[in-house]
Amino acid sequence: MEFPEGFVWGAATAAYQIEGSPGADGRGPSIWDTFSHTPGRVADGDTGDEATDHYRRYRDDVAMMASLGLPAYRFSVSWPRIQPGGKGPANVAGLDHYDRLVDELAAHGITPMLTLYHWDLPQELEDSGGWGERDTAARFAEYAALVGERLGDRVPLWTTLNEPWCAAFLGYAAGVHAPGRTDPALSLRAAHHLLLAHGLGVDALREVLPASAQVSITLNLSAVMPGATSPEATAAVRRIDGLANRLFLDPLFRGHYPADVLRATEALTDWSFVSEDDLAVISTPIDLLGINYYTPTLVDAGPAEPGPTAWPGCSDIRFVQPPGPKTAMGWAIDAQGLRAVVHRVHEEYSPIPQMITENGAAFDDELGADGGVRDPERISYLRDHLAVVHEAIEAGVDLRGYFVWSLLDNFEWSYGYSKRFGIVHVDYPTQHRAWKDSAYWYRQVISTNGIHIE
Ligand code: FCB
Repeated sequence: MEFPEGFVWGAATAAYQIEGSPGADGRGPSIWDTFSHTPGRVADGDTGDEATDHYRRYRDDVAMMASLGLPAYRFSVSWPRIQPGGKGPANVAGLDHYDRLVDELAAHGITPMLTLYHWDLPQELEDSGGWGERDTAARFAEYAALVGERLGDRVPLWTTLNEPWCAAFLGYAAGVHAPGRTDPALSLRAAHHLLLAHGLGVDALREVLPASAQVSITLNLSAVMPGATSPEATAAVRRIDGLANRLFLDPLFRGHYPADVLRATEALTDWSFVSEDDLAVISTPIDLLGINYYTPTLVDAGPAEPGPTAWPGCSDIRFVQPPGPKTAMGWAIDAQGLRAVVHRVHEEYSPIPQMITENGAAFDDELGADGGVRDPERISYLRDHLAVVHEAIEAGVDLRGYFVWSLLDNFEWSYGYSKRFGIVHVDYPTQHRAWKDSAYWYRQVISTNGIHIE
């Protein structure tokens, strides 16, 4: 299966997951520093203090990307490196780092794709209410402008937010991500303020970026499917789809919130934090939609598991474990979910260009005696999902690129270092990088611009 000419191949990472060096060059604390240093929040007490030490090793890592033949690299900027307290003038030393990274990538012919927010909110902003506060959205736009001004001439692809669903609902409702709040009403405010931050950020970026630069957002869209054949299961699908997908897609592409979601959550909030003009700001046209996809979501009529959940107002809905093979995360492997998601966006929302900005799988990889890592399951996961991408392109979906998650093993949020998503293995005590078989395989995919299906 050969991909269209110009199809963008890449790998993705995020600042807190790889950088380490939390105190370097004037960086301030983020909510993930606070969260990971709070006992009980992250598996094994892991923190991002060292991570993959990429902040110091970025030159070697870029050289490795070049040997992989990577045409593009998706990374995120750490907001508290640019504004240690989340506001005010730029910390020049922080910007300098990303300036060097971007130049290093360019020197190796690798296109940088920059994400402004991959969850590391400056702690000071959280202390004044975080994403529950409207002001945080305005602060984000200022931060976006600072980075845009400095790097706009060399970065052709900009992403405002990574997965606002996770930031809002894992962070403020389920409490399993930073800042660890368990307040369903607050999580809905957070979702709105994240979307508003996106819209204000797009405007701020357009002011400072050259006309050729593209602006996008990345959503983790879910393929929500019924876990049973019953009207109740179908109703559950609609509700979860509302919160997972339409709560983001509708304001971005249609300029309004889905009425059924507003109704289903009215016992929690009256949504009075949404001002008149917000939706016009949120629906400011963008150039590209980033989609992250890992696993499908199966639901049925309740009851939900006890305790805080990521789904405000859904205590009558339960999640069903799909049959079949799973990754080390316990996530079901089903590439058909990706097909459903990209077609849905294309057909129901917008023929906007799409990019798969994350897709990949964790397995319990082990470093072999020969220094390599056999990971046939990851190769078959990636191949199956790429086959779906290829079919979608043939069927007319405007899919421009694919980024594997992740370039290298890293700090997997609340799972710490226990889950390995990389195509490159990291031995944390020595920071030695070893290519897994999937890295060699991906290099081949890139160089032939295609996948081989038996
Ligand atoms: C996504 C995140 C990314 C990584 C993968 C496994 O939700 O964007 O940082 O943790 O999941």
